[in-house]
Amino acid sequence: MTTAPAAPAAASDIEAAIRARRSTIRLTEPAPGPEELLDLLQAAATAPDHGQLRPWRVLAIRGDARTRLGEAAAEAAPTSDLAERILAKHLRAPLMLALVFQPRDHPAIQRWEQMAATSAMATTLLLLLDSRGWGGIWFAGPYPDAPQVRKHLGIDDGEQLLGYLYVGTPAPSETPRTRHAADVGSKLTWLDDTGP
Ligand SMILES: Cc1cc2nc3c(=O)[nH]c(=O)nc-3n(C[C@H](O)[C@H](O)[C@H](O)COP(=O)(O)O)c2cc1C
Repeated sequence: MTTAPAAPAAASDIEAAIRARRSTIRLTEPAPGPEELLDLLQAAATAPDHGQLRPWRVLAIRGDARTRLGEAAAEAAPTSDLAERILAKHLRAPLMLALVFQPRDHPAIQRWEQMAATSAMATTLLLLLDSRGWGGIWFAGPYPDAPQVRKHLGIDDGEQLLGYLYVGTPAPSETPRTRHAADVGSKLTWLDDTGP
């Protein structure tokens, strides 16, 4: 077995945080305020990003702005029952972070790389939230591509809403979920001295 180089003490904490992180489904008040969110975003923006393009922006939606967004999304629902449920989904957390992918035209850095960088930033942000005791979960919707939602949030042509990070404090009813390590043996292939 290869021996790993001696790691700085903090590295073990980072690994423990990564291995323990769980998304939080039931969220309640409070949520990070403007100053803390900016600080968290600055840390999350250290994620790998080819060319440091930061091809994203974030809309922090709280208070009545959640209801206004919910009303816009509800307009896209095919039935009134569904519209009500869509509206309620916007109140499931005190803070919604709309993740807007903003790809840049670049001669060398392709769109997929920029999407990957954006995803890396969001994942890092979820980890940071979790490690500070906040709860968060990434949901695709509701209706991220609906014209009503895009218009309401001011998503430009060429931009794409990659869903929302729902953020807050884990509700008392949220039972801690342990993380079972995934069996990734079949996902790993080595190409070395022999073979292709
Ligand atoms: C881009 C993205 C979109 C997601 N959208 C949804 C969703 O709409 N509904 C859902 O139940 N889970 C969704 N998930 C999965 C949850 O965020 C979460 O990862 C999952 O519940 C597993 O929990 P864990 O993060 O604790 O492993 C999404 C994940 C990603 C990365």
